[in-house]
Order: sequence, then C-alpha cells, then structure tokens
Amino acid sequence: MAKARSSFYCTECGNETLKWQGRCPACGAWNTIVEQPVKETKKKSAGAVPSTFGMRKPRPIAEVEAVDELRFNTGMDELDRVLGGGAVKGSLVLVGGAPGIGKSTLMLQICNNLCRFSEVLYVSGEESERQIKLRAQRLGVWEKGLYLFSETNLDDIIAAVQEKRPDILIVDSIQTIYNGDSNSSPGSVAQVKECTMALMHLAKGMGVTVFVVGHINKEGSLAGPKVLEHMVDCVLHFEGEEHNSYRILRAEKNRFGATNEIGVFEMGDQGLVEVPNPSEAMLSGRPENMPGSCVTCVMEGVRPVLAEVQALLSPSAYGSSRRSSNGFDYNRAMMMLAVLEKRGGLLLSNCDFYVNVIGGLTLDEPAADLSLIVALASSFRDKPVPFDLAAIGEVGLTGELRSVNAISQRLSEVRRLGFTKCLIPSRNSGKIVAPDGLSLIQASNIREAIAVLV
Ligand code: TYD
Ligand code: MG
Repeated sequence: MAKARSSFYCTECGNETLKWQGRCPACGAWNTIVEQPVKETKKKSAGAVPSTFGMRKPRPIAEVEAVDELRFNTGMDELDRVLGGGAVKGSLVLVGGAPGIGKSTLMLQICNNLCRFSEVLYVSGEESERQIKLRAQRLGVWEKGLYLFSETNLDDIIAAVQEKRPDILIVDSIQTIYNGDSNSSPGSVAQVKECTMALMHLAKGMGVTVFVVGHINKEGSLAGPKVLEHMVDCVLHFEGEEHNSYRILRAEKNRFGATNEIGVFEMGDQGLVEVPNPSEAMLSGRPENMPGSCVTCVMEGVRPVLAEVQALLSPSAYGSSRRSSNGFDYNRAMMMLAVLEKRGGLLLSNCDFYVNVIGGLTLDEPAADLSLIVALASSFRDKPVPFDLAAIGEVGLTGELRSVNAISQRLSEVRRLGFTKCLIPSRNSGKIVAPDGLSLIQASNIREAIAVLV
C-alpha cells in the first residue's frame, strides 16, 4: 500500500516544510510545526486542463473599462471608514481579534442596517440559532431579511448560499468551519486555508459580500496562517484591552482603500457604540499636574487623533534595570531614552523605564517622539508638563527636532480639544498659521524642548 503523504505546517506563520522540525525556519517559532495528511488528487496531464484562452485574451490597458467598485454602507460609519468608504460588493473581509473582544457583536450589529435593504445569511459555528436570536434581540437588530444558520460543514454552508442567494454572508468563525473532504481537523492550517479559498470563490463567483471572523493567537496574528491574509481582500483587526471598554478596528490590508484608518468603538450594555470623536475618549481621565504624562497628536489615516503618552522612570533596584513599553514601539522608545541621556544630559541609565499609551492606541508615527521625550524628562525631574500643552515632532539621533507632515490639521485638533500651547519643531513653523487661541512654542532640539518643564 502506498504510504499516505503528509506535509508539515507552522501554526504561527503557515509556512510549509517537508519534514517535522522543532523550529520553524520561516518565523523562528519553536514547537509550532504540525503534521497534516495530504489529500491525494489525481494528477491531470497537461492537455487535460481546459483552456479558456480562446475566450479571454490579454487586453490593452486602454480598452479595459474602469468602473468604480460597487460599494454599500454597513450602517456603522467607523467600519465604513476603515473599509475605505463602505464595503465592496463581492469582496471578502476578514475580521480578526482576540476571543471576547466583540467580533460577533460587531457582525450582528451591522446586520441591523444591512438586512433592511438586502438579505443576510449569518452562519455561526460557535453559537446556536437560539443564542444568536437572543443576542440579536438584546441588541435590537432588525429581523426581516436576516437568516441564521448554525452549521460547521463547508459543503452545507455553500449549498445554503447557493439556494438562498443572500447578498451578504457572515461566517463566524473560520476556525470552526471544516471541509469534510479533507482529513485534517477544523481550525488546522489546511482547513482554514481551504475553507477561506472556497468562500473566496463564492464571493467572486456569485457576487456575495463575505465577512469572515477569525480568532487571533497569542502573538496577535490571525490564528495559524498568515497565508489567509494574502488570499482575502481586506484584513481588519479588532483590538482592545480587557479592562478597557474602547475597541479599535484597524485595517491591516485593504485592496480597496487606505490601510491606515482606524475606527473606534466603545463596548457597553447595548453592544458596540461608535466613538466619532476618539481624541476626547483617549484623553478622558487625564491626571492634572502629574509628572510623566504628555499629549501628542498622531494621524490615523486622514484623521488627527490626540493620544496621551505616559512615562515612568524610577531608580532600579539590584543594579539591573527593567524596561517595558506598551503602545509605543519598543525600539523607538529605547532610542528616545538614549537620545535623552546623551543629548539631553539626563542620567537615565540606572533607571527602570516604563512607557504606556492610554486607551489601547498603538503609536507608530515618529511625530509622537517628542511627547515621549517630554514625558520622560518630566518623570525624571518630577515636574509636570503644563496641562494645556501638547507636543508634536520627530526626534533624530543628534537630538534635533524634525518637521512633521499635516501639521495644520494636527494643530486644529489640538486647539479643538482645548489646548492653548503646542510644542513643535522650529523647522515646521515657517509654513503654518496657528489656530486662534493656540500659541506655538518652537524648539530646534530636545534641550530647548524640555525647557518647557521649568
Ligand atoms: P463577542 O462579540 O461574543 O466576542 P467575540 O465574538 O470577539 O469572541 O463579545 C463578547 C463580549 O462582549 C462579552 O465578554 C460580553 C461583551 N458584551 C457587552 O459588554 N455588551 C453587549 O451588549 C454584548 C453583546 C457583549
Ligand atoms: Mg464570537
């Protein structure tokens, strides 16, 4: 008897290897490679593949008609913005997030608007139809046009879609769906890949817009396969902290729009509520006259958002210092620490160092550098940053302040939230007019910048 063939997948990154290894050669994770039996498919001879070349030929670009994609609104402005101005008909959107973050709630809430003008099929492999109905009632979801189907078998789901022909299909979650023809277990890399591929065909073939929920693993990537992200049109990440009611929806990939937009929601008793004004939310509860906190303004897509950066420096015990950063890129934070020590003249090397960005935001823009420098210096000297001061600017390795883009929009947002002073790089100041009531403090290096503390 022929030996059954197996292939080996990394459950972290989806990399395929020929034999089992302790460490994945692609992502370097230990103990993540699993064995998956390979389904034997009959090899087709080259001539047996039906060619459609006679019907379809390469065309000159000038002859290709460029019509905009058909889009529709999901009824939640924050989600529409992240999708690039509404969902595209016939696209497949993957919504990833940690368990309990609110993915199912978000999907059920968009049904409330979608099923008023189209038919929605909500397939759940995790909850019974009764459970979903109860939740839908609690959330006050419009019922006409909404069909529930508690099923995990891929073939049955496809059959239901072909029979019902809904406009929108929601699959919650991809890890619970399985293809009976494959002998690997649900949630395995091979299954998730195959099921996503089948749903992708449904989306493109029948023009059904598909939303697929996916769980993420401890490292924060969509469980198992990175490969999924390449297949689908859109990858959205739903993030938030366990003890914080704010949820941030972020586009990791979007074939139909910019990827740097975020949507902000708050989880309450009535489900998710949109937060159209994230700056206010991110600054709520800011301590007055406490050292180590500084506000900055970052651009999330086209929208300026204020964020509070907090730093804590304390003398380290036992000669070795602890360093941690939450919401601010660790390497960048280390760089700021080194620049502040060397160019700012503060002796920080025997301090423990903690950085935190409030509200679950992740700052990856250099424009936030200056606020970290100011927060660090404030904590070190135990002097609070003036409550009505914000700081915007990139910091270079020589301690110089570099200009940032979209400065006028940022300053308007800073003013709108009631700040009266803003620290900016002097290189930026030539081209801008400060909004009424906002005075600009210009600095060309970090020494000048941290002088605001005295
Ligand atoms: P859920 O959407 O089930 O999460 P996921 O599908 O991502 O696993 O959300 C579950 C959490 O949300 C649960 O801990 C309770 C909370 N929640 C509320 O606080 N208010 C609500 O109205 C709802 C529906 C859920
Ligand atoms: Mg769920």
